[in-house]
Amino acid sequence: MPQLKIGPITIPNNLALAPMAGFTNLPFRLICKESGAGLVFSEMVSAEALVRENRKTSSLLDTDPLEDPLIIQLCGGRKETLRDAVIMLQESGARGVDLNMGCPAPKIVKSGAGAALSRNPPLIREILNEMVKAASIPITVKLRKGWDEKSANYLEICKIAQDAGAALVSLHGRTARQGYSGKADWECIRAAREVLSIPLLGNGDVNSPEDAKRMLEHTGCAGVMIGRGCLGNPWIFREMLHYLETGGFLPGPSDEERSSTMLRHLNMAVEKFGEYAGIRLMRKFWGHYIRDRQGSARLRDKLVRMEKAEEIRLEISGFGKVT
Ligand SMILES: Cc1cc2nc3c(=O)[nH]c(=O)nc-3n(C[C@H](O)[C@H](O)[C@H](O)COP(=O)(O)O)c2cc1C
Repeated sequence: MPQLKIGPITIPNNLALAPMAGFTNLPFRLICKESGAGLVFSEMVSAEALVRENRKTSSLLDTDPLEDPLIIQLCGGRKETLRDAVIMLQESGARGVDLNMGCPAPKIVKSGAGAALSRNPPLIREILNEMVKAASIPITVKLRKGWDEKSANYLEICKIAQDAGAALVSLHGRTARQGYSGKADWECIRAAREVLSIPLLGNGDVNSPEDAKRMLEHTGCAGVMIGRGCLGNPWIFREMLHYLETGGFLPGPSDEERSSTMLRHLNMAVEKFGEYAGIRLMRKFWGHYIRDRQGSARLRDKLVRMEKAEEIRLEISGFGKVT
């Protein structure tokens, strides 16, 4: 399996878990890592909040040696703040920091962060210069094709990132205007590959082992980044690895494995966030975990109404028997 190099760090394979706010916190990252993801990114963390509140202990920054090396994604629009946040993260042991330049959420864009950055390439240059100068850990970037089709400036931004010393680029083949709709454009990933000598992760609509192979072959990218395709389906990583290595297909998880993964995910969430918040976090996952199962709508409705971890455990344990 090809490895991935991020500055001095070697990643054992070239499959990455995408940063997803509200989802890719420690419990789910650990499950994906166990299932074969080579590299995991945190959900985005506000640089402003981190620096202003000195929140080195924010639960968003929690990590575990089993997911090493975790790349922490920062979201922000001011170079001083982003620089200070990188320094703080490095001091607290972060292995790498990613800059979010793709989030299209109005609140984020209004603050000048996320996809708003893509409209200001000179500012990106300044920010990345500051971040790279401030740290000895690798700085990576994640961007979209552009703000909209007319201003698709991903090539310019890729070059800026590389010149500033970024160690890796993740490119999502949609514009900010598209949000998550429509089809991701893999041609732009192929074009970005042509201008970059640092590793490139292709992202967008990689939802099966065959998609992963097609993305790698069609674009020449160094690795693939998987977002929605692994929600409720962390096994996709081992299935992709197997397919890329052998050309064969692994069977999907058994009912028992699905149920025991759901249980472990729940238990980690409750341990980490407490019963109240852990159960609410898991409500976002249940529908994904059981979507292809018979009786899934009914079971999901039941699970998202439950208030006690023990009740949910009982329900999930009998999951294999759902009709
Ligand atoms: C619920 C959700 C939350 C996301 N949060 C982030 C985020 O915090 N940072 C980021 O760079 N991208 C975020 N993304 C975008 C994903 O990382 C990824 O680029 C996008 O989903 C396309 O990949 P996919 O087709 O494999 O899902 C998010 C996507 C979703 C669906």
